[in-house]
Amino acid sequence: MPFYRSLGQVPHKRHVQFRKPDGGLYREELMGTEGFSSDSALLYHTYAPTDVVAVTTWDIDGRETTPNHPLKPRLVHTHKVDEGGDAVTGRRLLASNEDVRVSYVVADQPSPLYRNAMGDEMYFVESGTARVETVFGALEVGPRDFVIMPTSATHRWVPTGDEPVRLLIAESNGGIRPPKRYVSKSGQFLEHSPYCERDLRGPAEPLIVEGDDVDVYVRHRAGGTIYTYAHHPFDVVGWDGHLYPYAFNMDDYEPIIGRIHQPPPTFQAFEAPGFVICSFVPHKVEYHPDAVIVPYNHANVDSDELMFYVDAAGGARAGHGIDAGTITWHPAGFIHGPHTNELEMAVQAYNAGMIEIKNMRAVMIDTFRPLELGEASLASEDSDYLATWRNA
Ligand SMILES: [Fe+2]
Repeated sequence: MPFYRSLGQVPHKRHVQFRKPDGGLYREELMGTEGFSSDSALLYHTYAPTDVVAVTTWDIDGRETTPNHPLKPRLVHTHKVDEGGDAVTGRRLLASNEDVRVSYVVADQPSPLYRNAMGDEMYFVESGTARVETVFGALEVGPRDFVIMPTSATHRWVPTGDEPVRLLIAESNGGIRPPKRYVSKSGQFLEHSPYCERDLRGPAEPLIVEGDDVDVYVRHRAGGTIYTYAHHPFDVVGWDGHLYPYAFNMDDYEPIIGRIHQPPPTFQAFEAPGFVICSFVPHKVEYHPDAVIVPYNHANVDSDELMFYVDAAGGARAGHGIDAGTITWHPAGFIHGPHTNELEMAVQAYNAGMIEIKNMRAVMIDTFRPLELGEASLASEDSDYLATWRNA
């Protein structure tokens, strides 16, 4: 996490006696990464966070995957994925490899308390609103928010509006953080970064919930486990450190533009072991007199590219089955680019001075190892997608 925050009550020094009004000691917990050697947070619990009453198995269904063989581009309609369920147990697997699992859910009910013990999670809110309750406090989130949830942060999703919450989820096997090139050696966002500290929303106050015998669902390398705790884990009166959940809205991403077409890394928002996440947002059109304002054909020879369209209106293959909520999946080994019709029309419109803003919004997840198809992709993919590449 980029910078230090402190919330609620914390003692004047770490690891010293810190007492409750009744005279008892608060229970200090260090949530740390890389074995006490990297970012961490210190949390002060009213009750012992270790007080486990029971441990049972959580059977996580739908984890099986199918290789993308023969190798094909895919078009997945996430809006055809069944609606309902919660943001934890209801998520449907779209794709995965050794580094990341990508899923989608249309959540219409509160999730159980949950944490991922394998790595950070990125939630992207396509639509709907929710309150994300965490051991660090709550975040109110809405359309086009990214939510970065640190490894092992206990949390739950509570939909708050009339409509369900549509979430694209990336479960990393490591940290998810801003690209290194956008932060200083000490972690401050640099001047050329497309976003900075002021754009990130952390919890504003501690969240205290009373409860006994409370279940927490834990995802880990061997599967799922449910811990039943003697007391509700939301008993933290204060915390500080560099490790905490935060939200960042796509519309706060300041695009980097040029006279000629800029490559996808100019839209990168986050990096993680084995993959990156980009935030494509509306931006001023290129301005070289002979600019080609749609992407060139490209072969991502060492990455699979998942492009989740939030708003497909200005995309280079718009009108060819690609609408809001669709995912184009262009794997390593498949050369892809704009549809010829879009290329010609875009250039003509540019030459006629008709385009000032390119309006596409999308979240791209590029993985450096091949992805396999999850059951939700198999259930909702467009079998005619390959045909859109003929004569194009
Ligand atoms: Fe691409």
